Amino acid sequence: MDNAKVAGQRVLLRADLNVPMQNGKVSDATRLERLVPTIKELAEKGAKVIVLSHFDRPKGKVVPEMSLKPIAEALGRVLDKPVAFAEDCIGPVAEAAVAKLKNGDVLVLENTRFHAGEEKNDAAFSEALAKLGDIYVNDAFSAAHRAHASTEGVARHLPAFAGRLMQAELHALEAALGNPQRPVAAIVAGSKVSTKLDLLNNLVAKVDILVIGGAMANTFLAAQGHDVGKSLQEKDLHGTALEIMKIAAAKGCEIFLPKDVVVAQNFAANAPTQVVSIDAIPADMMALDVGPATVEAFIERLPHIKTIIWNGPLGAFETKPFDHGTNTLAAAIAQATKEGKVISVGGGGDTVSALKLAGVHHDLTYLSSAGGAFLEWMEGKILPGVEALSKGFSNLG
Ligand code: 3PG
Repeated sequence: MDNAKVAGQRVLLRADLNVPMQNGKVSDATRLERLVPTIKELAEKGAKVIVLSHFDRPKGKVVPEMSLKPIAEALGRVLDKPVAFAEDCIGPVAEAAVAKLKNGDVLVLENTRFHAGEEKNDAAFSEALAKLGDIYVNDAFSAAHRAHASTEGVARHLPAFAGRLMQAELHALEAALGNPQRPVAAIVAGSKVSTKLDLLNNLVAKVDILVIGGAMANTFLAAQGHDVGKSLQEKDLHGTALEIMKIAAAKGCEIFLPKDVVVAQNFAANAPTQVVSIDAIPADMMALDVGPATVEAFIERLPHIKTIIWNGPLGAFETKPFDHGTNTLAAAIAQATKEGKVISVGGGGDTVSALKLAGVHHDLTYLSSAGGAFLEWMEGKILPGVEALSKGFSNLG
């Protein structure tokens, strides 16, 4: 945005207003708060700020419960500034609302996904959006994995720039995985290896230590011949897990698996638990968290690690006491970050929730506001929304 001359211009700002709602109210305003620097800067520089976003998945139809109106109101409260709203994002309604804007005003247009052309990245729909602005700013890193009209198509028609949130996300991710200070450790957890295959394959080639937690660790342990009892695992992926370990060994990436686990007979809040070695998981019990020796072993390694990238809680963190491993590790990483010893970047929906519950979400170097986009970036994929901006920059010469 340093290069954008926005005074008096109509700036189409792609934001991600896809925020959690409960009973018609925004239940977590983090994504709105993260947009404040960009919107304030544009408004203060005298731009007419026209906010574009999707919300939820209305699949090309008008679904009143998926209107952006209540979110536009919440954005106004976060900005402490009036925010106008138009009941369509293209056509005469949107054009009339844009025509009324004065320099420094902010307008939110209705859900782009109410039109089928949005997700189809339809050229005519992109043009109809582009008609509303002179300049395009994309601040929606969290939607940049979608090649939609408002994230990709519009950038073909207007000078395109990255907003401050997009810039911050890209800088943080570059520091974590693009060009990191080494050694770099990735913590990857979650329930299934199958959903994180691309991620694991990309990471073994890029990081020095790959910590695997969550139920997906059970698949790796079982593949190595450990009896994991009733634990969740993917038996058909034992071969894949062994293959990933083989590639990691060839690339010099250490795979760090649990040494002990917290087991229970059932997955229930406050269920009686035991801590057992991975060689002694009882046949009628299931692993629901990593054990203290595992967390301790990683904490002992921390002084030798310069960069950490974290995606996925280590255990069933939403149900106590299976949040313990995640909380203990999160506190240690937060402390090392505060002491300037490590660069730590976290992201992904569950990871952000887990770090919030652990009370350390302000203490990492950077916590991404993205879910799917963060994951795809970690998988090494090209994000169309980011790619379109690079092209936009080169178009400007
Ligand atoms: C998200 O919340 O991850 C983004 O807003 C993208 O939403 P989508 O998965 O519905 O495209």
